[in-house]
Amino acid sequence: MEALFKPIKINDLIVPNRIAMAPMTRSMSPDGIPTDTNLEYYKRRAAAEVGMIITEGVEVSHPASSGYPNVPNLRETSHDGWKKLISAVQNEGSTIFCQLWHVGGIRKPGQPPNPEVPGYTPSGLVKKDKKVAYEMTENDVEDLIQNYVKDIEIIKSLGFDGVELHGAHGYMIDQFFWKDTNIRKDQFGKESDLRTKFVCEIVSRARKLVGKNYPIMLRFSQWKQQDYEARLAPSPKSLETFLGPISDAGVDMFHASTRRYWEPEFEGSDLNLAGWTKKITNKPTITVGSVGLDSDFIGLYVGKDQANTSPINKLIEMFDRDEFDMVAVGRALLSDPEWVLKVKEGKEDQIIGFTKEYVEKYF
Ligand SMILES: Cc1cc2nc3c(=O)[nH]c(=O)nc-3n(C[C@H](O)[C@H](O)[C@H](O)COP(=O)(O)O)c2cc1C
Repeated sequence: MEALFKPIKINDLIVPNRIAMAPMTRSMSPDGIPTDTNLEYYKRRAAAEVGMIITEGVEVSHPASSGYPNVPNLRETSHDGWKKLISAVQNEGSTIFCQLWHVGGIRKPGQPPNPEVPGYTPSGLVKKDKKVAYEMTENDVEDLIQNYVKDIEIIKSLGFDGVELHGAHGYMIDQFFWKDTNIRKDQFGKESDLRTKFVCEIVSRARKLVGKNYPIMLRFSQWKQQDYEARLAPSPKSLETFLGPISDAGVDMFHASTRRYWEPEFEGSDLNLAGWTKKITNKPTITVGSVGLDSDFIGLYVGKDQANTSPINKLIEMFDRDEFDMVAVGRALLSDPEWVLKVKEGKEDQIIGFTKEYVEKYF
């Protein structure tokens, strides 16, 4: 258990322990403005010893970034709300990263605040051969990179401890990574660097503006919401090709999003995706996926029974072997804000589970 409660340094930031709250969209910020309810929600988890809050996805300042209602944004009208929320979390001794999110082709026509704006994508595709959205020109891509970079500066100026770029689950950055959604012939579609140019430009330009000490993290995943079996990198070698340029561009930490943290990523080794990422990049990594639960979160969207609580022995063994540096906890922290304290104090039998009843009541 000690391994979970040691501080860790991410670039210049000290995070008090190894447990992060996974980013989770709640659609609870009318007009994109973080409210006191949002503040209390995060503060409560911070007060109960979550070492790093990763916010729900926050919209990139771009007309097509939004795909869902009441998602928070970074416009001026939101700044006071964020500043209050950030201080509340930090005053509890925790740290807070802003997850920056553009949904790309997942955007459905008619979304507020600009219903006429179509989904933007690298190649007009949301999955293989499924052409549904607008294909960005090189100028569009350049504009979007600039918007991301400006937002990262805003995130720093608001007082967030770091930024997490949402490069996972088949949204915009991932649509650049994935060969099924990026068939561009220009510099942003090159197979030789596994289509990492877009994110590398964001990171290296932002790095110049926020300075060398500001933590920048990338969340990525093999799986896509469009295809749970998709794989960006089918072998350790291709994972190296993918992560190398991103790490060199200046990412400090990787968040390897998997649905079940205990599953080995490649044959012949027990390491999971976060384990391989740490081994390849030598940078700190976060693992995630069904921690403390016995079934994965996709069930939530396909109407399956929800998970019960389960022991975290396996996780602790993996920490002891130093396979990764932090763990993100999603649903277990939704249903029980005191999850970390209960685990720390050996009161697992008192944890409020993310059960069918919980989902029926709150989702
Ligand atoms: C309600 C809900 C909202 C989510 N929203 C986001 C999001 O905004 N950004 C993101 O990267 N992942 C999102 N996820 C995925 C979680 O961050 C996490 O990876 C997933 O739930 C697996 O962790 P868990 O098994 O501990 O819940 C969401 C998950 C849930 C359950």
